[in-house]
Amino acid sequence: MLKLKDLRCEYRINPIGISTGEPRFSWKIETDKNDSIQSAYTLQISSNEDFNGEVQNSGMVESGESHLVVFKGLKFSSSEKWYWRVKINDNNGEESPWSETAFFETSLLDKNDWKAVFISGENESAASSSAGTVFRREFNISKKIKIARLYASAKGVYKAYCNGCRIGSDVLAPGFTEYGSRILFQTYDVTELLKQGANVLGFMAAAGWYKGDFIYGWDLQRNVFGKCTAVIGQLLVKYEDGSSETLITDSSWTFSKAPVVFSEIYHGETYDARLEEKGWNEIGFTGKDWKPVLVESPDLCALRPADGLPVREHEHFKPKKYFTTVGGDRVIDFGQNISGYVQFRVKGKAGEKVKLRHGEMLDAAGNFYTENLRKAKQTIEYILKGGEEEVYQPHFTFQGFQFIAIDEFPGDVNPDNFKAIAVYSEMKPIASFKSSDTLLNQFISNVSWSMKDNFVDIPTDCPQRDERLGWTGDAQIFVRSAGLIMETAPFYAKWLKCLTISQLSDGSVPHVVPDILIKNDENGNLLPRNAGSAAWADAAVIVPWMVYTYFGDIRILEEQYPSMKKWVEYVHSVAQDGVIFNTGTQIGDWVALDAKEGSYFGATPTDLSATAYYAWSTELLARSAEVLDKKEDAAQYKELHRNIVQAYGKEFFTSTGRIAARTQTSCILSLQFGLCPPHAKQRTMDTLVKLLEENTNHLTTGFLGTPFACRVLADNGRLDLAYELLFKTDFPSWFYQITKGATTIWEHWDGLKPDGTMWSPNMNSFNHYAYGSVYDWVFTDVGGIETEGPTAFKNIILRPLPGGPLSFVESSYESPYGTIFLRWEKTGTNLKVDIKIPPNTKARLILPGTEKVLGSGKYSFNVSGVNNGKV
Ligand code: BGC
Repeated sequence: MLKLKDLRCEYRINPIGISTGEPRFSWKIETDKNDSIQSAYTLQISSNEDFNGEVQNSGMVESGESHLVVFKGLKFSSSEKWYWRVKINDNNGEESPWSETAFFETSLLDKNDWKAVFISGENESAASSSAGTVFRREFNISKKIKIARLYASAKGVYKAYCNGCRIGSDVLAPGFTEYGSRILFQTYDVTELLKQGANVLGFMAAAGWYKGDFIYGWDLQRNVFGKCTAVIGQLLVKYEDGSSETLITDSSWTFSKAPVVFSEIYHGETYDARLEEKGWNEIGFTGKDWKPVLVESPDLCALRPADGLPVREHEHFKPKKYFTTVGGDRVIDFGQNISGYVQFRVKGKAGEKVKLRHGEMLDAAGNFYTENLRKAKQTIEYILKGGEEEVYQPHFTFQGFQFIAIDEFPGDVNPDNFKAIAVYSEMKPIASFKSSDTLLNQFISNVSWSMKDNFVDIPTDCPQRDERLGWTGDAQIFVRSAGLIMETAPFYAKWLKCLTISQLSDGSVPHVVPDILIKNDENGNLLPRNAGSAAWADAAVIVPWMVYTYFGDIRILEEQYPSMKKWVEYVHSVAQDGVIFNTGTQIGDWVALDAKEGSYFGATPTDLSATAYYAWSTELLARSAEVLDKKEDAAQYKELHRNIVQAYGKEFFTSTGRIAARTQTSCILSLQFGLCPPHAKQRTMDTLVKLLEENTNHLTTGFLGTPFACRVLADNGRLDLAYELLFKTDFPSWFYQITKGATTIWEHWDGLKPDGTMWSPNMNSFNHYAYGSVYDWVFTDVGGIETEGPTAFKNIILRPLPGGPLSFVESSYESPYGTIFLRWEKTGTNLKVDIKIPPNTKARLILPGTEKVLGSGKYSFNVSGVNNGKV
């Protein structure tokens, strides 16, 4: 029986507030037959649920597309709700029944839809204040409500309320963007919160990323985007009688001080519960210190409907251990390093205080450790109002932590009154990986936690110290792994729009996006921009390409293409003879162990690593041009790629094939990006193996070499060595961290040294995902599931490469077409493989000594005589 399931519009189930008038539709196929391929689809879109009003019919479209399908010729306007359903025909001659009916609703798509204005309770004198503000307005509804939507946003971060209830569950909305030209607004369904008669809307807002502290150099700066927080809201009420009404933020609103007396992303929050005004967001409230709001100029050009994934609360952690350190701190260990905050319950007198500090580690003596946070305070202070038990969790901040120190608390501390709440962007988990090895399983967990913790609205370097920035290099290094853990396409699509905005007019791309590493000197002149480093700026090309590869999102490629091209053209314009990239600030093989003592910069020459990345980006640009049918560009960039590779061969290899820069990373990048001249390939591989041997088979690589180390070894005949590196437990290695208790991936191989001392307090995060990017090799080669080319798993490669101490691996991936499953088990030299291939795909199964193409279905195979991946 052929059936359709998992209907999605723009990646979401029945979304409201989609940001485009040309939505894309996806469905999955269920069938009891093998080898099923969709041959045609029929899509219907209707103004009502019964499909008996206005119906748009695609007719039967002969196409195998079932993911991100565009209904050609249809464009929707703002605040429209439409229903849709689909049926398909397959290659077995079957026709499915209509799918269940799904719906979508557009947001405000045109800036002219906005009638509201930003309202504020602050003027420029509040630039240094990080206090919260509350806003309210009562209004009357006289008719029967059909639906009601609130469109809302802030300069700062906000929460919205209706008749005493919180609206939605977003954390840190509207998210972190290049606010100067892009402020996202959320769409909320408030139908159930409103009633006929008197109603009230309220907002609470604070500094957030908009005006709070950010790093610059080793110092802090603030007000990067503005000096005053502000909110905007537009309530649309559609009545049963067909009429509608709009309530907007304007001069009729009032504001007051919030009990949040201080809140910032890096530093935490101070909340004085004594300042709470009971009923402030309910009807009939008359507060004494409420004043008319200040209305901002009605320039709303930057407002865009939110198109990423909202940040939300996820896992909760109970205390794992409560103890007092040698230094006398009362400490709770939550057992997992997370991004988020602590919720606690407390009872005491008015004016009594709770003070918590957050940290990732204990030091060698077992004391609470916060030095690696640098200037980020990560401190919560709560002043009790007194009386009944009080429950508190921060409103407008998040911390990176596993431990808290309880500096102040009324009465005895009962750890049961505390819980840690993980907070990150709402991405759909799409992969699972389980093996016979507990350290490997822990490692997979650590990678996925470092991902969650660093996906708080933008891809960050770390979630704890005074950075938490969208470092472009970190983002591109991890993008492939990320796509093999969670559905990241909408998350990156949002961030890439900011990358395009931040990109300099000459095409150079900033080190961080949104670009906050920007400052004027005392005369008001802009200081030189932090931009243009290879492997960082290459995010402009690599991220869209990888999102296209894994999620088939051609719209991202189309939208980003001009930015991708601009970056490659920039390098072309500054490179020596247009081919060797040896100019500008180069970060290079960051925090490699072959760096000079005390330096962060690895030993691999930056002209080599920069040119290697230039070659790769040019290759990906050429491939993108091909996908987008830009024939001339494709030919031009293929030619440029050939020239770069040739020049690279001449510049970085001797005529007899010796690599000029004898570092692990030089060898790895040259092999990974196909840059070795033919006569130098084997010699480069031999050099890499030799360099490893000289270091007792340990890596010395930094951000650039580490992600590809195992892949290069496995691809070049040394699967055994790839496994050896992965399974090492002594310093430096991936599993070494686990033996030291890591629950996330560290920034440094030697973050915590074998003798228990720390590498350095200055640059020592225990939650950086870059080194976790070996995950993509583990998932695709050890687990054996990979997309064949940029087809988003429509064509699948199933190629498990058993090795190391593993006796089995079981992995699955929820592709756009359905679940791909692979389990291999090795007993002696016998390999048993069970697989599942979803409908509408084909898989190339490659097992030692055999290769075949399979259609959808479940299969089992046995291969005997397998040794080191071969028969
Ligand atoms: C960040 C890194 C980043 C690097 C580049 C650091 O401070 O934490 O992850 O890529 O700077 O300079």
